[in-house]
Amino acid sequence: MKKKILIMVASPKKERSGTLIPTKAFVDGMLESGDYEAEYIFIDRLHITPCRGCLSCWGRPDGSCFMKDDDVPAVREKLINSDIVIWSFPLYLFGVPGQMKVLMDRIVGMVHPYMGQKLKDGESAMNSHLHGLQFQKEGQKIILLSSCAWMDLDVVYEPIRKQFDIILGHEGYTLIACPQMRALDHRGGPRRLKMLRDKYKLGGEELAKTGSISQKTIDLLQKPLFSNEAYETLVVEFVTHMFDRDDNF
Ligand SMILES: Cc1cc2nc3c(=O)[nH]c(=O)nc-3n(C[C@H](O)[C@H](O)[C@H](O)COP(=O)(O)O)c2cc1C
Repeated sequence: MKKKILIMVASPKKERSGTLIPTKAFVDGMLESGDYEAEYIFIDRLHITPCRGCLSCWGRPDGSCFMKDDDVPAVREKLINSDIVIWSFPLYLFGVPGQMKVLMDRIVGMVHPYMGQKLKDGESAMNSHLHGLQFQKEGQKIILLSSCAWMDLDVVYEPIRKQFDIILGHEGYTLIACPQMRALDHRGGPRRLKMLRDKYKLGGEELAKTGSISQKTIDLLQKPLFSNEAYETLVVEFVTHMFDRDDNF
């Protein structure tokens, strides 16, 4: 039986998401092994009622929400039972897009409940996670594949790292960040876009073959494809002519 890759697409641009370019290439690389099958879910198309804040999910043995009549119960089952979960999202105000956060809040019952404990002296959220998943297929891998406008990835992804380290633990997920997407998707040109796809495909192949992605490969995937100067020129042009574009939506 094939292993399952679940791709949670969080960009409200859906099929027109720039983040989808590296995401699809990465998934295609995994699919080439013949060992996997993939399902894409566009979060913006789901019916998700926001969390009501009761935390009754933490009192239920299966951690499920009391609300059963939207798309969350079915998605939660898929999240639990997939072998690889890829959250594909644009960086929004140094965090995740609202649609993704609304879904994350609704599935808070998937993490171990907070039982009132105090951290021991010297113990910080950064060296031990505060929750961890309590419902997760054995061996499941979680990948955060995100794109952003900036290229100073250490700085702009610090809040995401802190948030996911504290929730899942440093070893509980792998972050791959794709910089310069503000111009890459529209002005990358065929050569640069091919370079982008090729390297993300290699990343996917590596994950399928070895079960992990080396830091060396992550560094390669995260390397900017424009020089700083070329990128700045393109972004200025892009922002200046934004209102002329006919694909604003
Ligand atoms: C509301 C909003 C907030 C954003 N915030 C950031 C940000 O904090 N840092 C950043 O580098 N890019 C930011 N961006 C740019 C997007 O992350 C970037 O364009 C991304 O590649 C878009 O991906 P998508 O095409 O998949 O939606 C923001 C864009 C929007 C619309």
